[in-house]
Amino acid sequence: MTRRAVGAARLGLLPPYLFAEIERKIAAKRAEGVDIISLGIGDPDTPTPGVVVRRMQDAVADPGTHQYPSNRGRASFRDAVAGFYERRFAVSLDPDTEVIPALGAKEAIANINLALLDPGAVALASDPGYPVYTMGPLLVGAEPVPMPLIPSRGFEPDFDAIPAEVLDRARLMYLNYPNNPTGAVVEGDLFERAVALARRHDFIVVHDNAYSEITYDGYVAPSFLATPGAKEVGIEVFSLSKTYNMTGWRSGAVVGNPDVLSAYWQLKTNLDSGMFDAVQEASVAALESDQASVREMCGIYRRRRDVLVDALRAIGLDVTPPKGAIYVWARVPEGETSASFTERVLEGAGVVITPGSAYGRSGEGFVRMSLTVPDARLMEAAERISRLVRS
Ligand SMILES: Cc1ncc(COP(=O)(O)O)c(C=O)c1O
Repeated sequence: MTRRAVGAARLGLLPPYLFAEIERKIAAKRAEGVDIISLGIGDPDTPTPGVVVRRMQDAVADPGTHQYPSNRGRASFRDAVAGFYERRFAVSLDPDTEVIPALGAKEAIANINLALLDPGAVALASDPGYPVYTMGPLLVGAEPVPMPLIPSRGFEPDFDAIPAEVLDRARLMYLNYPNNPTGAVVEGDLFERAVALARRHDFIVVHDNAYSEITYDGYVAPSFLATPGAKEVGIEVFSLSKTYNMTGWRSGAVVGNPDVLSAYWQLKTNLDSGMFDAVQEASVAALESDQASVREMCGIYRRRRDVLVDALRAIGLDVTPPKGAIYVWARVPEGETSASFTERVLEGAGVVITPGSAYGRSGEGFVRMSLTVPDARLMEAAERISRLVRS
């Protein structure tokens, strides 16, 4: 008997997940004895703040946290998220109906598609963008339609360029500012225009707010939900991963429109069994802390950003210092593509960077470099790239 291929057809729709590919390349090079510096993944290199770790230690020792959590989340967690949104963004949330825990933003973004999209529906996705905005819709038989983000428009989508037929079928729109991978921030009326468009065409806006706290040069990022009318048409996904160096803890929250949250909750009661109560308690400590750790991290990333931007400019690369998030988005040198430059930097400098094309077609011609490596290693990476490009 010949065995059928293992793996559902829907998996065939997905390209290899970028970061899984990167991990494989790094492992292969290291096995060859190459000293690799990875500016590939945005994973904070400094520890989770002590106040959070200590609360976790206490919480994990409490048998009250050892049983199945509720998918709705603990009252303390929901109150802490609502309190944070009020203090930080002047956004009022009802902790009972407008806040729900997520096992990291990635889980929420992926599952929102399953909760909201029927096959054939359109999800408008930033291009370049976090890969889950396109993989999530594909996995549920929906159609991700890219919205190009280009430098001349400040990396904001051109809503007027979206065909009417596409808008008619749109059920979701993904936005993300401060933006991964471009580092762009919202300074105009983009959110107001998104609310108006969503109202007109009856779709849900999902604002991915993974980087609101990581900003520079005095810029303070708004919440999408602070936009008048936003709560009627949208939700925001907040993440503790980058905010508090908690990528491994899997903690985030979905906030906003109660009907959308109710659909997401209904789905999740069938998929997972909630966020470990001890992690919820540790998240409360993070959200209610004095935020000194966040300010410290922003200072560290700003210093690294300046080192890297200066080094790249010195070798003639076109790069704008980002005002938010933890990446530098640079144009590749004349005559290179995203893929060829990424390959050359890996082979010639032992530095892992990611090709802009991996984040969508409009990312072609750019590369992304993450600021989440210690200063000395980042400087070394910058020197190696400089030497390579000059040679
Ligand atoms: C824009 C964006 N959204 C979501 C995530 C995932 O965050 P989390 O760790 O909360 O799943 C990332 C991680 O890099 C990201 O860059």
